[in-house]
Amino acid sequence: MIYLDNAATTFPKPKSVLKAVKTALNDYGGNPGRSSHKFAIKTAKEIYDTRLLLAEFFGCPKIENVIFTPSCTYGINLVLRGLLKNNSHVVISNVEHNAVLRPIVGLTDSGIKFSKARISLKNDDETVNNFRKKICKNTKLLACLSASNVFGAKLPIKKLAKLAHDNNALFLLDAAQTAGLVDINVSKSKIDFLCFPAHKNLYGPMGLGVLIINTDIKLKPLTYGGTGVKSRYYKQPDVLPEKFESGTINVPGILGLKAGLKFVNKIGTEYIFEHEKDLMLKFYNAALENIAGKNIIKFYTNDSLIKKFPGVISFNFKNKNSELIASILDEFNIAVRAGLHCSPLAHKFLGTLDCGTVRVSPCIFTNKKQIDKLISCLIKLNFSQN
Ligand code: ALA
Repeated sequence: MIYLDNAATTFPKPKSVLKAVKTALNDYGGNPGRSSHKFAIKTAKEIYDTRLLLAEFFGCPKIENVIFTPSCTYGINLVLRGLLKNNSHVVISNVEHNAVLRPIVGLTDSGIKFSKARISLKNDDETVNNFRKKICKNTKLLACLSASNVFGAKLPIKKLAKLAHDNNALFLLDAAQTAGLVDINVSKSKIDFLCFPAHKNLYGPMGLGVLIINTDIKLKPLTYGGTGVKSRYYKQPDVLPEKFESGTINVPGILGLKAGLKFVNKIGTEYIFEHEKDLMLKFYNAALENIAGKNIIKFYTNDSLIKKFPGVISFNFKNKNSELIASILDEFNIAVRAGLHCSPLAHKFLGTLDCGTVRVSPCIFTNKKQIDKLISCLIKLNFSQN
């Protein structure tokens, strides 16, 4: 199989990740933060080390502010539900994934209001200005993705975080597509809440996310229960990270993430980024040269967007449903994702709500030969339509 659906989840996972998950199940079977026997403490130490590595990697000064969640989406929900009160207003972009959009729409029942700011593909300052225009006196939060999971447009994070703070609001970043592929430093960029999954560009297992809290503002928890600390009290303890981690945490996932993070650190985000950029530029230019000239294929990207973020490329064949193209590619054993990618807003922006797009997304294991195969399959499709 040629796997080009890495924006959904990276595959394969590095061997070190497979080994770490197996080792976790074999050798780290004690419940961390619960019992005080050596076996549990050994696991707790690994969990602490993982928090430490994550804090270093993402520039968070407080290790205890690295919170493990069941997914990136869960972390986003935690921040939104834990922070916003009746009448609070939020500004999001007009290309958000449902991970941000749906929790906010869900909160409108409780009196939360939101506005969408239009992004500009050409001018970051225009994007920032569009966000500025939507801010009002009740605005408590600016929340956005760092790059679109549909067409890769990257948002000006540092400028948006500054805009939020200049207006007494906080800044939440959904880094689902970028964490591990692009440098993100919560201290330097002044990101108050950073959410990301383990299983994408950090090459960890599915079913695990991370929330990094880089502010002293208190959040209400989303789940309540046993934490292993202050057990005599009926009230949820106000101690991080436990306040937000009721229930036993995902030890195999976390140790897998630790190995994934080390893998990324060893290769370097810059190297991985360049590798993906070369491949996606190759794909884009070859398709333009061999197919697009005949106006049969339409790309929703360009050189400059790819150079800023090569994690995803979307395209369509004229008059063909994207799902059909993906299923034909599947017959050639090429895995891509088509349809709406859980991002109706992004597709509305592109004008592709009815047909979706075909999305190609690489990872560090993708190679030139695989991209050549994809191009030759698309050329064959092209010929079969003439
Ligand atoms: N949000 C992920 C994607 O874009 C799952 O495919």
